[in-house]
Amino acid sequence: MNSNPSQPAGQRPTRPRRSVLYVPGGNERAIAKARTLDCDAVIFDLEDSVAPDAKSEARENLRTLLKQPLGGGRETIIRINPLASPWGAEDLLAARGLKPDAILIPKVDSPEAIAEVDDALDQTDAPDTLRLWAMIETPKGIMNAGQIARAARTPDCRLDCFVTGTNDIIKETGVAPLPGRPYLSTWLMEIVLAARAYGLDALDGVYNDFRDMEGFAAECAQGRAMGFDGKTLIHPGQIGTTNEAFGIDAAQLEEARAIVATFARPENARAGVISLDGRMVERLHAEMAEKLIAKADALAARASD
Ligand code: COA
Ligand code: MG
Repeated sequence: MNSNPSQPAGQRPTRPRRSVLYVPGGNERAIAKARTLDCDAVIFDLEDSVAPDAKSEARENLRTLLKQPLGGGRETIIRINPLASPWGAEDLLAARGLKPDAILIPKVDSPEAIAEVDDALDQTDAPDTLRLWAMIETPKGIMNAGQIARAARTPDCRLDCFVTGTNDIIKETGVAPLPGRPYLSTWLMEIVLAARAYGLDALDGVYNDFRDMEGFAAECAQGRAMGFDGKTLIHPGQIGTTNEAFGIDAAQLEEARAIVATFARPENARAGVISLDGRMVERLHAEMAEKLIAKADALAARASD
């Protein structure tokens, strides 16, 4: 495994990951369009959105069309097929060659699935900056989410982010895909909890009915309330709503700055708790405020990139 002392576990750099759009590797028009879109990250897909007969064509598409980086501060991620599948090894080589920010491993069931790809990348001397994202989308993946996230406890593991695969979870478990996701919520929360325990980001699953903006906005608000950092998307029309739902509004930012400034006053140097505008504010709130400010700074940096 690689060593990456600049990114100790739990202290990874803050990256805005509000809106993360899937783009099928087989769709040249959509790949071109992705360059023009205001999402925080793009996942170019070689897995579920590409038919078995079209896998090598999709790989070639990406090799040709992703020579120029996306720019605009957006992260580029390539989703490969599982290493055990007939396409996985070649996908990994192609993805590695495209120098993305991260490679997304589908259907991760265990920590070994991360180690396998991590080791394969080390053997090709991949740079430390190349990260791994993991799809949590199988019953075993959910049950083992804590152990999988634990792989990231060592600074030399490339794992950075969990991506929830709700369509696969629904397929594998038979749970009803109802509005408000009543029977999925427990599992989604387990994914968030496991990610938080080891300092990873966690992204919510997709909303298939891309013309239903009301239902989509409600699911974005729910995902944010559950603690997700952002949402994975299937259509450009979903980006604006997501950026807003997972963004930071001016009032929140102002309050965060006030909390940090108040604790920074000399008279509060030894205070564990203070009163601000009639509310109790503890040091833990100052920590939360600092994280929020870091996220706002990262968003501002992306906007000016
Ligand atoms: N990324 C980039 N551009 C996209 C896009 C995407 N995911 N989905 C649609 N577009 C583009 C279309 O190419 C079209 O571009 P144009 O203005 O140049 O013609 C425009 O957005 C409008 O598209 P629209 O006609 O509304 O949708 P569609 O019928 O072409 O596509 C889907 C609908 C669902 C097939 C398509 O959105 C899609 O493939 N999404 C991603 C699916 C995926 O990756 N699934 C795997 C992970 S769950
Ligand atoms: Mg899937």
